[in-house]
Amino acid sequence: MSQRVAILISGGGSNMVRLVESLAGSSLGEAALVLSNIPEAGGLEKARALGVSTQTIDHRSFDQDRAAFEAALVQALIDAEIDLICLAGFMRILGAGFVSQFEGKILNIHPSLLPEYKGLHTHARALEAGDQEAGCSVHEVTTALDDGPILGQARVPVLADDTPKSLAARVLVAEHKLYPAVLENVLRGDRTPLLM
Ligand code: GRF
Repeated sequence: MSQRVAILISGGGSNMVRLVESLAGSSLGEAALVLSNIPEAGGLEKARALGVSTQTIDHRSFDQDRAAFEAALVQALIDAEIDLICLAGFMRILGAGFVSQFEGKILNIHPSLLPEYKGLHTHARALEAGDQEAGCSVHEVTTALDDGPILGQARVPVLADDTPKSLAARVLVAEHKLYPAVLENVLRGDRTPLLM
């Protein structure tokens, strides 16, 4: 049976677009909902253009009440009968109230070779450290930030004249290949780490 996938975004949604495109050719899953916490997120329009239902739950309207924001997210995902959640540039930290509702069913992409560089500014930190290689990771989401079992990683070289921007662009190309491939594995029930 086709699993209903929700993709959560906060920004441009280029990873979301790749996931939606890959699901369009899959019998295992379908893009049922794109949900944003930012009403202005550019990805919302892209999702609609791809024929995917969208919804916005603006965290700013919850007055710093993270539990209430997360409860609204949970309700929207239950209402849409979602089986699997892909965080794709979703820039809110999700707490136990959310994660415990969907244990093992939330994936995230992070622009570093985890466990290196959890959190923000991953590319600048990799350059500062003088790393020869950078990359991205898809992992299962647990209540610890950018933690949880790694489901796949893709590596790219760091070039001598890289800036955080040029490195981010190279890593993003790898993200676009890695995330759909890991999603397909997970939909097939295979959580063996995929290395690219
Ligand atoms: C990606 O680099 C993702 O790994 C990070 O935020 C960026 C989102 O880009 N968390 P996009 O919205 O998918 O284009």
